[in-house]
Amino acid sequence: MSWFQFVVKVYYDMPRIEEKKLLKALEDAGLKAVPFNVTREPLPLNGIEEHIPLIRAVSMFKSLYTAAALEANSLKPINSSFTIMYSGDKILTYSILASHNIPIPKTIVSLNGDSTVKAYLQMGFPLVDKPPIGSWGRLVSLIRDWHEANIVIEHRSMMSSPQMKAHIVQEYVKMPSNRDIRCFVVGDECLGCIYRIPQEGEWRSNVALGANVKKLEDSCDACELALKAAKALKGEVVSIDLFEYQDGLLVNEVNGVPEFKGFMRATGMDVAKKVAEYIKGKVKR
Ligand SMILES: Nc1ncnc2c1ncn2[C@@H]1O[C@H](COP(=O)(O)OP(=O)(O)O)[C@@H](O)[C@H]1O
Ligand SMILES: [Mg+2]
Repeated sequence: MSWFQFVVKVYYDMPRIEEKKLLKALEDAGLKAVPFNVTREPLPLNGIEEHIPLIRAVSMFKSLYTAAALEANSLKPINSSFTIMYSGDKILTYSILASHNIPIPKTIVSLNGDSTVKAYLQMGFPLVDKPPIGSWGRLVSLIRDWHEANIVIEHRSMMSSPQMKAHIVQEYVKMPSNRDIRCFVVGDECLGCIYRIPQEGEWRSNVALGANVKKLEDSCDACELALKAAKALKGEVVSIDLFEYQDGLLVNEVNGVPEFKGFMRATGMDVAKKVAEYIKGKVKR
C-alpha cells in the first residue's frame, strides 16, 4: 500500500452488486475507496475536501443533487450533474441527441391528456408511451388501440408530478425479436456491446424484466454511435441503448448511473476494473 492514497468516494443510496464491485476494484487499483450513503449523510455546498466522486445513487434526483452539491465544492463528479440530468430525463436526452443530429426513434412530446390524444393520432398505432423519468421498463407502455390508449392517459393523469404527467409518444420500433443493444462507454473507450433479448411474453428488453444477454461480436457501428451519444451528453461512464432500425441504428437511452451486471455476464469483462483504471488515469494526470 502506498503512503498516500487518492480518495474516491462512491455516493450511493441502495448498494447494488455494481457498487460493491466498484468499491473493491478501486481498492485493487490502489485508490482509497470510501462509500458514502447519500440518504444518511448531509452534503455541504462548500468545504468538502478534495476527492473524486463516483455518483451511484439509484434515485435519479439523489444522484443529480449529489453531483450538483459536489460541483459546488469545485469537485468533478463522475458523472457530472449535466450528464445525470440530461440522461435521467428522456425528454432532455432525446432533445440533446436530436440537436446533435444523432438518430432517435420518431418521437412526439405531450404535456397533458388532451395533447396526448393528438400525439397518438399523429403517431398512429401501435406506439410506445413512456414518462420522461423512470427505469427498468416501468410505465413503458405498448399501445395498440384506443382502449389501451385511454387507460394509459387516465393512469398518467392521476400522477402527481408534472414530469410523470408528460408523455413521450414514440413509434414502436420493431427490432428483430424485440431485442435491443446496450453499449458501455468509459471515457473515450467503448468497452463493447451486448444484445438484450426479452424473455418469452415480454416486449421490453430490460435485464430487470428478465431479458437474456448475448455479446455482440461485431460492435463497430454500435460503438461508433454510442461514443457520439456519450459525447453529446458529456458522459464519462455511461451505457447507451440502441435500437436496430431498417438498415441502421437509433439511440433510445443513455444511462448516467449505469448498471452493468448483464453486460459483465454477456462479455465476461470486468467493467468495475475498467472504471477503476479510468479513474486512476485521471489521478495521475
Ligand atoms: N419506441 C420503442 N419501440 C420499441 N420498443 C421500445 C421503445 N421504447 C422502449 N422500448 C422497449 O422498452 C424498454 C424500456 O424502455 P426505455 O425507454 O429503455 O425505458 P427504461 O428507462 O425504463 O429502460 C426498452 O429497452 C425497449 O425494449
Ligand atoms: Mg432502458
